[in-house]
Amino acid sequence: MADLAALNRRFGLSGHVAFREIPGGLTVMEVTNAHGTATIALQGGHVMHWQPKSEVAPVLWLSRAASFAPGKSIRGGVPVCWPWFGPHAANPKLPAHGFARTVPWEVRATRVLDDNATEITLALVETAQTRAMWPHQAKLSISITVGARLRIVLGTENSGKEDIVMGEALHAYFQIGDIADIRIGGLEGCDYLDKVDGGNERRRQHGPVIFSAETDRIYLNTQAECVITDPRLQRRIHVAKSGSRSTVVWNPWTAKADRMGDFGPDGWRGMVCVESANAAENAVTIRHGSRHELVVEYWTEQYAA
Ligand code: BG6
Repeated sequence: MADLAALNRRFGLSGHVAFREIPGGLTVMEVTNAHGTATIALQGGHVMHWQPKSEVAPVLWLSRAASFAPGKSIRGGVPVCWPWFGPHAANPKLPAHGFARTVPWEVRATRVLDDNATEITLALVETAQTRAMWPHQAKLSISITVGARLRIVLGTENSGKEDIVMGEALHAYFQIGDIADIRIGGLEGCDYLDKVDGGNERRRQHGPVIFSAETDRIYLNTQAECVITDPRLQRRIHVAKSGSRSTVVWNPWTAKADRMGDFGPDGWRGMVCVESANAAENAVTIRHGSRHELVVEYWTEQYAA
């Protein structure tokens, strides 16, 4: 268990950042500032909650049935998928979406920016166990800025002597009024792999993405900003990104959510994942000695249907 007193002494910021332990056993940072609130778990470098002051509902969805236990991934918020996306290509025994989301990270810095936003930097803690799953010299860090927008920079530094190939995603779960009523713009004309159909065929997106069944798609070769239009919550959520060439759109619908067990009753209706990723053929090669950054920015605006 983390030494809360030591963390608060070293990295706590009065009026901005406080550390506490939540039921289940995880240590989190509560961020409160003039722009809004956020909660970040040290395990996984995982943003669990974000709500700007202008919003009556959180922007990120967090399952009411989520588990907050050491070694378990949290259902909701922004899980970090790294260093591969989805199942491991060669070894199905390795964890889906990599190991970054279920291992401890350490705090590197906390600071208040000029506009009163709060910036937090964490780094994944490498162990014999993580090196056994991925034997490369790569350092992973995350920098989270809680301001009028939520900005996340996921940085991978290849400190080894060989090039590395990796997959990744900031697997954001957004809170919406009802999945049947929303639409997602920005992916018109893009090709995608349809994972509900096995993921082997390419299809093309015509018009905005709308939902009437389980949806699990990897949109390829797209750096476009996506906009979720939500008539019930009367808002638009913007998802802008750089350093990411895939966008994954996911809603499990009824049967899969029931099988997964940590969605809660009807939880799937109130969420949609728009994941800024480098997946499938968009996996990234990082030359030795260089650094790759995946950057996202989320913000909302009011929308009247
Ligand atoms: C999405 C995948 O990114 O994550 C889905 O495209 C998957 O296929 C979903 O079901 C959730 O994955 P997990 O490992 O968090 O249950």
